Amino acid sequence: MTQTAWGWSDRLSLSYAAMDETHKEFVALCAALSENNPASFLTRLDALIVHSIAHFEQENRWMEETAFPPAACHRQEHDTVLEVMQEVRRRIADGETDLAERLAEELPHWFEHHVDTMDNMLARFMLSNQGAAGASAA
Ligand SMILES: [Fe+2]
Ligand SMILES: [Fe+2]
Repeated sequence: MTQTAWGWSDRLSLSYAAMDETHKEFVALCAALSENNPASFLTRLDALIVHSIAHFEQENRWMEETAFPPAACHRQEHDTVLEVMQEVRRRIADGETDLAERLAEELPHWFEHHVDTMDNMLARFMLSNQGAAGASAA
């Protein structure tokens, strides 16, 4: 593969520190799927799945706490990508090993789109709530 390695960049920052920290971890684990070592692919995918469950639960909890209006839509995107990861994991374990490279290529696109849309809206919403709370407390 001659692909340039994908990784964290400021382009992915949403200026919400706790979310950026989680996203840096996602990016590192997701980028690791591109390592050319088929024997350890499922171990690396499992690490990404474990991370993603906690990552998505954290955002789902923030949405509940702040009554984020498009919460259902955002939660649905989390559930869908997690189902895809788990389904692909099952199929690779069953011998469809060519799916590993496809997943490693597609997930960064999914993540960038998700960050630009759903996570960006949530980060802005939480930042504006904090601003409003700060303003009313002043
Ligand atoms: Fe996220
Ligand atoms: Fe999200």
